[in-house]
Amino acid sequence: MNRRYRKTIIAGNWKMNKLPSECKEYILRLKEKAAAAKWCDVVLCVPFTHLASAVKAARGTRIAIGAQNCHFADKGAYTGEVSCAMLADLGVKYVIIGHSERRAYFGETDLDVNKKVKAALDAGLRPIVCLGESLDIRENNAALDHIRMQLKFALKDITAQQLRKVVIAYEPIWAIGTGKVATAEQANEVGSAIRETLRAIYGARAARGVSILYGGSMSEKNAEGLLAMPDVDGGLIGGASLDTEKLGGIIEAARQELKGN
Ligand code: PGA
Repeated sequence: MNRRYRKTIIAGNWKMNKLPSECKEYILRLKEKAAAAKWCDVVLCVPFTHLASAVKAARGTRIAIGAQNCHFADKGAYTGEVSCAMLADLGVKYVIIGHSERRAYFGETDLDVNKKVKAALDAGLRPIVCLGESLDIRENNAALDHIRMQLKFALKDITAQQLRKVVIAYEPIWAIGTGKVATAEQANEVGSAIRETLRAIYGARAARGVSILYGGSMSEKNAEGLLAMPDVDGGLIGGASLDTEKLGGIIEAARQELKGN
């Protein structure tokens, strides 16, 4: 991480876990940890049904609430969908876009991702754009090309001004929920390639302001090494975010890292 140019962001992704009634106690437990970690933004991404209670419970804390998906249209005949305007109206600040589970199980395409990024920005939300390669792609030495392509698609027609609100998450599919974490060097290599691509499109100044997170079996045990890398500016955390002690441990690792920075 590099605190001079960009924020550190520790974001939990509950996926389809826990109940709306569990938000309050969870946030109560986490808020001291979040308060101690200045310069580190703490985000909690919960299911749609939990958003209202999470936003309420997080009021007055340093925890921002995020959604895990959105629709790209502002409103209309899209039964079962939720628009970014609806999320923003609730007090939601972030939205995860293009998570590999959505791409794999719900057929989300690069074009969908791009439309959703635009919709999120238009509504004043910060998109957390997920990129990541499968094991096959990695073993064929094509990971960096794959990530660069996903990134360019996701950010098509996004301006440098808009880029300031965008968060990128590198999440290798082979590391998600598997306990098989990328090495700090692997995470940083991809983080650097992402920043290099951003630099080529938007220039050095815009590129260095973007927070690039790592996601995939990040835990309180391996966070320190990952967060010490220059192009790993935080984490998107699934499994470990279900436990406030574990997520709190990752926030603490970020705090320690920032102290020494
Ligand atoms: P994990 O999930 O931490 O459980 O591997 C990360 C994610 O999918 O965002």
